[in-house]
Amino acid sequence: MNQNFKAFVFDAYGTLYDVRSVEATVEATFPGKGSLITSVWRMKQLEYSWLVTLMERYEDFWSLTLRSLDYTLRSLGLSAHSRLVQDLSAAYLDLKPYDDAPSCLERLQPRRRAILSNGSQSMLSSLTANSGLHQLLDNILSVDSARVYKPAPNAYRLVEEELSMLRDEVVFVSSNGFDICGAKSFGFTVVRVARFDVENITEQVARSGMDERVLYGLMRGNAEGLDYPADFTVRSLSEIPDLFSDQERER
Ligand code: LAC
Repeated sequence: MNQNFKAFVFDAYGTLYDVRSVEATVEATFPGKGSLITSVWRMKQLEYSWLVTLMERYEDFWSLTLRSLDYTLRSLGLSAHSRLVQDLSAAYLDLKPYDDAPSCLERLQPRRRAILSNGSQSMLSSLTANSGLHQLLDNILSVDSARVYKPAPNAYRLVEEELSMLRDEVVFVSSNGFDICGAKSFGFTVVRVARFDVENITEQVARSGMDERVLYGLMRGNAEGLDYPADFTVRSLSEIPDLFSDQERER
């Protein structure tokens, strides 16, 4: 690869951090329903981000996280007391980073490493401090300052503005199909992290039928069928430093 990329910009939820790690907290409150609530909550949280962007009625991601959990619990006929919704949503401030995240960020040094996330600045500050990843990141960018959600181009434009770089100098990394598509359409070089094994999903359905976890993987785990595919697909973040290591040799 000839290009000298100046920065690696990561999506947060689903890419560096496992959003499904809220499941244990949810399960403790609603036994037997942790997986279903976690799946619907996440899908609705993203859907709301697209709705408020299209409606030009921006609300920050914390507000949408609360609203989407409230929706999920009410839809399932469960208690959605505001105190409970707040308490459960706090799990989003303490998500588990994927095991491959710290070493990938470490190995990408000395190149710039950043997050660009839908999360509000305060959600991202808590998340990165609680997990210790803040020490491995140079910039933490929230779409909150653009008041639109990914995949709106103005969300990705924050990277150019805040890092003073052009889009073709940036590698963008995400596991979220819509985010990969949006980032590629914007003009970044994009790496897709395939967090869900599609072959396994097919086998799983054949073995034990369709459940919410499988549906979640199908809806969120695959590459989108639009014309903006990732430039590279990896199974793990740990492949990324090697993928771009020849740049160092070419310098
Ligand atoms: C984020 C969402 C896309 O971190 O997961 O921005």
